Amino acid sequence: MQNIWYNDKFMSGFINPGELDCCNPSVAQAEKALMSKSGPGNDFLGWLDLPQKTGKDVISAINGKAQEIRSKADVLICIGIGGSYLGTKAAIEFTSPSFEDLRKPRVLFAGNTINSDYLADMLEMVKDREVAVNVISKSGTTTEPAIAFRVIRQWMEKRYGKKEAASRIVATTDPAKGALRKLAKEEGYAAFEIPDDVGGRFSVMTPVGLFPIAVAGIDIAKLIEGAVTACDFCKGESVETNMAGRYAAVRNILFRKGYTTEVMATFQPQLHFVNEWWKQLSGESEGKNGTGIMPAGLDYTTDLHSLGQYMQDGLRNVFETFMILKKTSHTMAVPKFDDDSDDLNYLAGRSFEDINEKAFQGTMLAHLDGGVPSATLMLADRSAETLGQLLYFFEKAVALSGYLLRVNPFDQPGVEAYKKNMFALLGKAGFEKQAEVLSSRTKDISI
Ligand code: PA5
Repeated sequence: MQNIWYNDKFMSGFINPGELDCCNPSVAQAEKALMSKSGPGNDFLGWLDLPQKTGKDVISAINGKAQEIRSKADVLICIGIGGSYLGTKAAIEFTSPSFEDLRKPRVLFAGNTINSDYLADMLEMVKDREVAVNVISKSGTTTEPAIAFRVIRQWMEKRYGKKEAASRIVATTDPAKGALRKLAKEEGYAAFEIPDDVGGRFSVMTPVGLFPIAVAGIDIAKLIEGAVTACDFCKGESVETNMAGRYAAVRNILFRKGYTTEVMATFQPQLHFVNEWWKQLSGESEGKNGTGIMPAGLDYTTDLHSLGQYMQDGLRNVFETFMILKKTSHTMAVPKFDDDSDDLNYLAGRSFEDINEKAFQGTMLAHLDGGVPSATLMLADRSAETLGQLLYFFEKAVALSGYLLRVNPFDQPGVEAYKKNMFALLGKAGFEKQAEVLSSRTKDISI
């Protein structure tokens, strides 16, 4: 059953009748190139049929290891950055209770910043709890997770002894290459493989995401089932039947009219990290060769009290997709007070969801009136199945969108620039020449 729906019918003031039909040939061409694996980046298309290929055996191997970790740990520390972190964080926030104290086990994240205070506070917090670690890096060499893992590994070995620590550490990395694979072999860590043909930001449905998501108690079979369902409504060569193609086409039409930023607006805090995941997926896939739609995320109604003014009245280069959850897990109503001293009895008995819906409708209509092309993406509920549909929809849409923009959506050459500079400035062997050039330029930008 389809659990997510994209609707662009409110775009009529911004997209003329027939414009979407005109996009059909290019959507068809992009779809063909993708499905026949003949377009740019075609060696990174493993994610396309990953849901169908993830059989019961794979799911049960992951669930088995997850169960073992759940039986001995109150806390799983997940070490990773970018695609090796955001999908798991998004899945947990989407499906689980709002506060970590209500989650069993807790999944904490490290290696996505370079910050001693954060790590010190985390280790202080877990000192009386049973801990397990999942270190995730496709390349096995990314600095942020690698240095965090050094600290956490040392802490684990001190606390549990080398052998027991090793039994509590799971590595997820390339099947053969990289420092993490080598380390896992040497230390005897259990290890999962990240397929060669799946890039980091498309890897949530590999063990990168599936293992920690399973440890968090989320039904990964349902997640995959959702993705399989999405394959059906995100395929085909017409924007009438391919929902991902339609969304990609709308974005492309708007981008060519000067709407260069897409705001993904949510009205439920559980969607915040889906947005963060989408921002990476979209920005890293499309932002290259001097082009690309800038992805931004806003959390309403919170951000209506900060960036609401800009959205209503600022520079008109923004279009908005309202990603809305139709059903929350709980329902609360505004209580009635006989004295009505705060004048709120007119809302008594009305649910927060009802009030939130009016906030959403009021905002969308105001933004349309303010010149922001707006569409909706409705999500049935917070189930793993809905999430699977959503993640696959975005993956397919961004791939098509990249092809429509004439970029390779599966590489990320720009990410290397800062890394090279950082290695040079840190004195890594092989970067000596660059270090010389950069050292004079850093004088005025020291912390
Ligand atoms: O999408 C990508 O490939 C990147 O953003 C990676 O996810 C990120 O850099 C982490 O890389 P790795 O898993 O190799 O440590």
